Amino acid sequence: MALEAETKRIVSLFELSDDWLNKAVREYHSQADEGLRSEGTSLSQIPTYVTALPNGKEKGVYLAVDLGGTNFRVCSVRLNGDSTFKLTYNKVAVPKELMTAEKAEHLFGFLAKQIEIFMHEHHKDEFESIRSQTNKDEEIFHLGFTFSYPVKQLAINKGTLIRWTKGFDIPDAIGKDVCVLLQTELDKLHLPVRVAALVNDTVGTLLARSYTAGEGGHTLLGAIFGTGTNGAYIEKLSNIKKPIEGEYDDSTGEMIINTEWGSFDNQLNILPSTTWDSEIDKETVNPGYHVFEKRVSGMFLGEIVRRAVLDMTKNDQLSLFKDANSSSNDWHSTTDIGPAVWSAEAVGPGQRRHELEGTLDIYSSSLEDAQAFKAIAGAVGRRAARLAAVPIAAIVLQSGRLSDANSSIIDIGVDGSLAEYYPSFREMIYEALAAVDGIGPEGAKRIRLGIAKDGSGVGAALIALVAARMEKNRSVANAAKRKLDQVPGGFLDSFTNPQQLALGVTVLGALTAVGLWWARRRNFV
Ligand code: BGC
Repeated sequence: MALEAETKRIVSLFELSDDWLNKAVREYHSQADEGLRSEGTSLSQIPTYVTALPNGKEKGVYLAVDLGGTNFRVCSVRLNGDSTFKLTYNKVAVPKELMTAEKAEHLFGFLAKQIEIFMHEHHKDEFESIRSQTNKDEEIFHLGFTFSYPVKQLAINKGTLIRWTKGFDIPDAIGKDVCVLLQTELDKLHLPVRVAALVNDTVGTLLARSYTAGEGGHTLLGAIFGTGTNGAYIEKLSNIKKPIEGEYDDSTGEMIINTEWGSFDNQLNILPSTTWDSEIDKETVNPGYHVFEKRVSGMFLGEIVRRAVLDMTKNDQLSLFKDANSSSNDWHSTTDIGPAVWSAEAVGPGQRRHELEGTLDIYSSSLEDAQAFKAIAGAVGRRAARLAAVPIAAIVLQSGRLSDANSSIIDIGVDGSLAEYYPSFREMIYEALAAVDGIGPEGAKRIRLGIAKDGSGVGAALIALVAARMEKNRSVANAAKRKLDQVPGGFLDSFTNPQQLALGVTVLGALTAVGLWWARRRNFV
């Protein structure tokens, strides 16, 4: 009985009411708005310099690399131009010691080495033929770099690291341009690869989902629920009140914003906090930051459950894992229960007890033990899903698409292990969305959380494609400008922006090239 009562008490600490959800959505709106107005806010709302979405017609082979929370993936993506693609990739776990290396070059040198191995394995012929070219610039591989940590983006291929998350801690890299860090190491290996674009995994997911959805897909948001959590969405340029440095194409009137919602409510105005949440936060590499992520993402859920269950086993009044038949199940054995938490949710009581044995060395646990364990794991997972619904609801409401008759489905691309494998994670998000004022059960039915598998790799390849074209177009424009500069007299002096330059080029008969440049800038292809 005591076990059942204590389990209920702990479960109730993780419950979030519908009223709370509505309050949290309002708080998200206010912090999101603040992030669009000024720098240094809790929600960073980072402009990404990506101002258009693909339509599925893009073609070509591009390289992409993805440094996530656990693995480093190197891929090449063949975009077929019909909303389909072929992805080839290698995946390696990032060695633990490199996650906290003394120098940035140790980590980035390892990444460059993996790119070299991949190119040898999968693109040896192209690689050798590029190496033997005299004009290497023409034939270089363009690479999209998915870097899933908070970065202050300064251009499509430039961004300085704000802080590490997800267990990485290399102070030497903070404030440095991560594209330069990678390019330097690639150059040391003499690889014919140019880091053409820097992209967050959520931005990649949004782009990949748009590519596969094709014309009319109109994906609103790309979200990750994996080791970490974050979302990127399309915002009107007119709503971004803080200055955006550098060049970008404003013709679509929109830009993708990387919210970095892992840092929603770092000030804890609204987020629920149990003692276990606070303890965990203190022990992370970034205490006080990314506190939303520490309640939602896969890196932390198992640890929250572990601490809650551990406290229960230390309580002499409770029978948890202390039955006569399970005398060896003292709290020393309850040390790493992340994977067991997930499977505890997925399986029935018999299988669950089997999992407790296999994963945690807890033998002969009683049915009550297994039920208590399931209840706690379920409560932590359910709280995560309801929290996850908060930014999604806020972004859907803010977009106005629910009242737009042309948007019957509001498409959201999601990726990450929680979204994909945690039992009922997406269903619990839908349930929470239905409880939000302004969405309701009818609105929730129009929101589609679609898995965007391999999103970040494909998305990075798509951005590399755009960046490579922008670069090429810039050289066409520069070549044209050089020709114009050779014309005697001062009549070209005023041709300083692209439209004026195009006019000047007409005079010299080079209109075609710049017309193509301008058209591509506008159409994204
Ligand atoms: C990072 C984000 C990333 C997310 C998901 C977070 O820890 O700050 O940039 O998008 O994890 O990978």
